[in-house]
Amino acid sequence: MTLNDIALHRRSIRRYNGQPVTQDELLTLIRFAQEAPSWKNQQTSRYHVVTRPDTLAATRACLGGSNPQKTEGVGAIIVTSFKHDIVGHTHGQPDNEAGNGWGWYDLGLQNAYLLLKAAELDIDTLVIGIRHADQLRHLLAIPDDETIGAVIAVGHRIEDAQRPPRKELAEIATFH
Ligand SMILES: Cc1cc2nc3c(=O)[nH]c(=O)nc-3n(C[C@H](O)[C@H](O)[C@H](O)COP(=O)(O)O)c2cc1C
Repeated sequence: MTLNDIALHRRSIRRYNGQPVTQDELLTLIRFAQEAPSWKNQQTSRYHVVTRPDTLAATRACLGGSNPQKTEGVGAIIVTSFKHDIVGHTHGQPDNEAGNGWGWYDLGLQNAYLLLKAAELDIDTLVIGIRHADQLRHLLAIPDDETIGAVIAVGHRIEDAQRPPRKELAEIATFH
């Protein structure tokens, strides 16, 4: 698959078939995500990977809205986070107005790499922003110096999903 094929094959999948995802596969995704650029190569992104059935069920219960139902049958859930007050900071002070926004930025970049690698391996994903961070922190003993970001469900699709339409280029890009 070309990069274009991979990007188009990746879809947010909300129905999973129960097929497991192996630890080797998960490590492959994370290893690839590490190739993403990061602020001063600080690499503050972290992955809390859940595969044990009982912990998987408990993690799904920490998701909001209809996300617990959408993640039925996933093989793994990755709670992503970053060590805060490092990226975008010098001696504890923010370098500019974005501050920890740069930590979010680095985490998002790494996560995008992870999603694309998964798509290449025919592994499906759903990025989840509607989740209860405090409950996840407690369940997985995520340290207080980490800000919890998106949760990524990982598994295998039951059926293909439609590609939601994208905006016109003229709306999102200006040339100067
Ligand atoms: C930061 C972020 C948070 C998201 N949160 C949710 C969510 O809580 N539940 C959900 O079903 N989809 C969630 N999505 C998936 C988006 O709805 C989806 O990416 C968008 O509709 C485009 O569809 P596509 O991923 O198939 O291209 C989230 C995506 C991102 C990037």
